[in-house]
This record gives sequence, structure tokens and C-alpha cells, in this order.
Amino acid sequence: MDGPSGSGKSSASRGVARALGLRYLDTGAMYRAVTWWMLDRGVDLGDPQAVAAVAGEPALAMSTDPDAPGVTVDGVDVSGPIRGAQVTRAVSAVSAVPEVRARMVAMQREIIAVSLPTGGIVVEGRDIGTVVAPDAPVKVFLTASAEARAHRRTAELDGTTVEAQKAEMARRDALDSNRKADPLAKAADAVELDTTPLDLDEVIAEVLRLVKERA
Ligand code: DC
Repeated sequence: MDGPSGSGKSSASRGVARALGLRYLDTGAMYRAVTWWMLDRGVDLGDPQAVAAVAGEPALAMSTDPDAPGVTVDGVDVSGPIRGAQVTRAVSAVSAVPEVRARMVAMQREIIAVSLPTGGIVVEGRDIGTVVAPDAPVKVFLTASAEARAHRRTAELDGTTVEAQKAEMARRDALDSNRKADPLAKAADAVELDTTPLDLDEVIAEVLRLVKERA
């Protein structure tokens, strides 16, 4: 499940995983946890070489339980802090560094491989259908209008406005879509689903319908 922030990926992915008894992986949380670790260490995030030099160091552990997703880095539970404004502002720069992506993609593929004997996994991100799991049997690319995405994000966060969120999302989308390494993109064989007029249950139902069709 790929798409920009605010397209409804996380809630839909977790809902689909729950409905089908599958594991769930939030790959954005992995890039956020690495960013948290680098900020904590005082790494200069404006310097891609400095980021690349330490990209192999943070030890991530991901929970793949759709009812209790979470991430630890070097044993510290950072599931809360990675949602903060500081990490959100910095994560696109960190996730544009090829050395960071190579490590995250390798970890993501390992997590997927481990989940397959248990039935499979719903993986959400930006490059899952194109790079991480090009052979995935079902690929969904979620979109929503800028207005709807900003409204959803504003409802989730304290102390922000729709206009501020719109600007922040536009900035992050531009960075995520225009970077050289594995940009946000719809796979040729992904089904695009515009969630603007849909509520969460409708999005989940549509994805479940696609899964049934493909299976
Ligand atoms: O889904 P999210 O907003 O939590 O993702 C945070 C950032 O991580 C996003 O701005 C870009 C990056 N990301 C990525 O580059 N590749 C992914 N598969 C997932 C996220």
C-alpha cells in the first residue's frame, strides 16, 4: 500500500491486516525512527554524507502486530516521539539518502519473508510496489485531495491548522516524489484508489474486494 501522507494508508493498512489476519508493517515508522536516532545523536541532517556514514548504526526492531504497531531503536521505544514535528520536518531529508534506503529496504524484505509462512503482510510506504516488493500479489496506491489530506492530518495533531498542514505536506510530497532514490511512485500494476469521498470502512472494503479479486 503506497501513497502520500494523509492518503489514509496507515488506518486502511491496519484495518485490512486485521480483517485478513495478516501482519502489518509501517515502513514510514522505520525512516522516522532512523531520523529520531540521528537527531538524538546530533548528526547534521543537511549533510547526506554525514547521514550515510552512520546509516548502518541504529538497531531497529519493528512490531508487526496490526493491533500494537511500534518501533524501538537501540532498545528505546520511540513510537510516540517519531510522530513529533521535529522528526516529521527532518524525515524526508534522511529518507532521500541511498545508504539509508538500502538498509531499510533490506530489513523490510526480511520482515516480509518472515511473515510469508504465517499468511503474509500488509506493508505501507512510498516505494513498496515499485522497489521493496515488486512481486506483491496486490498493490494499492492511495491518493486523496490536498484539502482532504490536510484536514485528516490536522484532526490527528494538536496545535496546527489546515493551511499549515497543507504547506507542510506539499513540501514533504515534493521531496519524497522528486528524490533520485526510490521516489514516491505508483507501480504500473497498482490499483489507484482516491479516498477523498470515502470513509475508512469504505476504503478497507474496497481493498478487501481487490484482494479477493486477485486471489
Ligand atoms: O508514512 P510517513 O509519513 O510516516 O513517512 C515518513 C517519511 O518517510 C516520508 O515523508 C518519506 C519516508 N518514507 C520513504 O521514503 N519510503 C517509505 N517506504 C516510507 C516512508
